[in-house]
Amino acid sequence: MKTYENLKTAIENGICTITINRPDKLNALNRATVQEIGEAVKEANEDKSVAFIILTGEGPKSFAAGADIKEFIGLTDEQGMAMAKAGQDVFQSIENSSKPVIAAVNGFALGGGCELAMACHLRIASENAKFGQPEVNLGLIPGYGGTQRLVRSIGRSKALEYMMTAEMINAQKALELGLVNYVVPLEGLHAKCLEIVTEIKTKSPFAIGAVIRAANAYDGTSKGFEAELTEFGKCFASKEIKEGISAFLEKRKPNFSEKV
Ligand code: COA
Repeated sequence: MKTYENLKTAIENGICTITINRPDKLNALNRATVQEIGEAVKEANEDKSVAFIILTGEGPKSFAAGADIKEFIGLTDEQGMAMAKAGQDVFQSIENSSKPVIAAVNGFALGGGCELAMACHLRIASENAKFGQPEVNLGLIPGYGGTQRLVRSIGRSKALEYMMTAEMINAQKALELGLVNYVVPLEGLHAKCLEIVTEIKTKSPFAIGAVIRAANAYDGTSKGFEAELTEFGKCFASKEIKEGISAFLEKRKPNFSEKV
């Protein structure tokens, strides 16, 4: 992968790990970093050797402590909106990635950091992780999709409470709320991600992409059901269903990595 100024990237065993690398600023998401995350996720999606993406932050303290507050100084309303649009586009590209994106949340996930984690498909948090949307402290609101994804994730009532009080959500509470999938000790964060990857790796990559697209279409209306029909149908046109069904009938494990 190309070299990034604010990120470290590594590809190993089909997993692309993207690490936000501004630890002295608690991995705050300046505009350049957000743009680079978008580029790195795109690169990983286009790389045939990559099947999974893990997003994390450098150091033991922070995943990402929000948008870089210094970049808010002097913005006009139009510039503020353009900044949010750029962030929303990148975070949407993460949500729409057909390869699973796992957030390994190693500490603070505040503001844009919480929004980034929510844009990922799965969230594994370290015990010291702290989530929150504290933008109202600054006279702001979440702008990278947080008002929508937090409501979807934990329900309107709790989402509004946390967005209005700016209260931080500790890892255990995040687990209870369904905001994260698992909480593990910080030193076990990578291993837990690998455990999940190992499980998903045995499944049909086409079906994994389809399930992401169908779940992303959920909006409480019939649109989601229609997307499910389309994706379900498309699976029958894929090569992988043949292997999956043959393997079941032959009482063996499917091998989706071979062309069938
Ligand atoms: N934007 C810009 N810089 C940030 C930042 C952010 N969102 N969050 C942390 N930093 C910087 C600090 O300014 C500090 O830089 P400095 O050493 O040059 O002064 C450095 O990161 C360390 O942060 P510090 O506040 O000293 O760490 P702490 O452990 O005392 O506090 C937090 C940690 C997360 C509670 C605190 O940094 C914080 O409240 N950050 C802002 C969170 C936020 O409001 N995010 C939403 C933004 S919309």
